[in-house]
Amino acid sequence: MTTQAKTTTVRFVTGRGHFAPGLRLRVPAHRASSATLAGAYPFLAAQALDTGVYVGTDALTGALFCFDPWTHYASGLLTNPNVLLAGVIGQGKSALAKSLAVRSIATGRRVYVPGDPKGEWAVVAEAVGGVVVRLGPGLTTRLNPLDAGTGDAAARHGLRLHLLAALAETTLRRDVRAVEHGALDAALTLAEATLDPTIPDVVDALIHPDERAAVADGTSARVRAEDGRDLAHGLRRLVRGDLAGMFDGPSTQVLDASAPMVVLDLSALGSDDDALTLAMTCASAWLEGALRAPGGGQRWIIYDEAWRVLRSVPLIRRMQAQWKLSRAYGIANLLVLHRLSDLDAVGNAGSQARMIAEGLLADCSTRVIYRQESDQLAATAAALGLGQTERDLLPALPRGTGLWKLANRSWVVHHRMHPEELTVFDTDAAMRDDARQQPLR
Ligand SMILES: Nc1ncnc2c1ncn2[C@@H]1O[C@H](COP(=O)(O)OP(=O)(O)OP(=O)(O)O)[C@@H](O)[C@H]1O
Ligand SMILES: [Mg+2]
Repeated sequence: MTTQAKTTTVRFVTGRGHFAPGLRLRVPAHRASSATLAGAYPFLAAQALDTGVYVGTDALTGALFCFDPWTHYASGLLTNPNVLLAGVIGQGKSALAKSLAVRSIATGRRVYVPGDPKGEWAVVAEAVGGVVVRLGPGLTTRLNPLDAGTGDAAARHGLRLHLLAALAETTLRRDVRAVEHGALDAALTLAEATLDPTIPDVVDALIHPDERAAVADGTSARVRAEDGRDLAHGLRRLVRGDLAGMFDGPSTQVLDASAPMVVLDLSALGSDDDALTLAMTCASAWLEGALRAPGGGQRWIIYDEAWRVLRSVPLIRRMQAQWKLSRAYGIANLLVLHRLSDLDAVGNAGSQARMIAEGLLADCSTRVIYRQESDQLAATAAALGLGQTERDLLPALPRGTGLWKLANRSWVVHHRMHPEELTVFDTDAAMRDDARQQPLR
């Protein structure tokens, strides 16, 4: 540290934010390292966040930066445990989510990834002794979304009905009408006569309603079958269509609630967003059953590549319901997007779907923003309440570095990865020269 003999000029800032050239204060120049200055001028940098799991270093002060939504919620720093993570392609969003997941497991938390469209989480789950459920055409694993977890018969019926309506809304691309709800309710009741109802049982009951139940409800089996015709066609996609063999029979796998990480690998579904949405809707029901199980402890639910499923209104409605349960069940949700304009895919401004999606973002007390393209800056800054300096920072952020906003405070954090994490979390292998040397198979 050196102190210079020269003097320097400090110009004052007026109330309107302009420099006032007339007001000058002559003080001796002082030179110090940024680490010292962070101590000497603590008001220049946010206070170090040093409780929770290690994330990396504060890019401005070099101080370590830690994060744990449960600890920060308990201390009053956060009003909810959910996290939004946004950034352009390849900046390290998934790597950060994986580090948070793996390092949290070391502190006794568990992690669920209810949909991994790229298949990049399986290797992480395997590395921590977790469970990978692979779903896709031709694979042998089946999940019965009507496995409605614990609770009495009425509660299970309600959960199943919600799920079936959400699935039908997704395939039909419209809301389920009141008469259709009646038909679905009756069909599910009929299917529940078997011990473990499945979607084919419900489709069958929609096509062949019970005459006596229909008459008791003031209708007839013929009218009820007519009411349920579209639903039967919509749900049949899960039985005979491109999703056949995944959700149309008894589950072949029971969710191991004690596993440190459970990943639903949906990479075999390819780029079909509809199939992905239906699979995630089914998975969300399966997951909810697990979440409601008592004694589950504190858990991360990570929606990597969430932008791909946000356009599904029934799915975001389910996410909203689950978001609301977060605190009651000790859950922290992590939502990964590219940019906030991903929300435009949900619906027009002011539409109900858009309001739900905006509500999900509003319910993320922690916002981590990785690099954004310049055309996104104004919208990002407005949506997240960023100041001009924060906004100017976003297009220049290097890979692995993000702006963290918790409550009204912000940090620029470089995510530091362990060499073993670098190997397991690598998603760039195909882009490197060494990969090009491999013969094509
Ligand atoms: N902090 C970091 N230090 C070193 N390498 C990193 C860091 N963050 C990410 N990487 C590497 O950069 C590559 C891309 O990271 P990642 O897959 O996490 O990006 P992404 O933002 O999730 O991309 P996409 O939008 O395509 O999903 C990976 O190989 C990862 O290991
Ligand atoms: Mg990613």
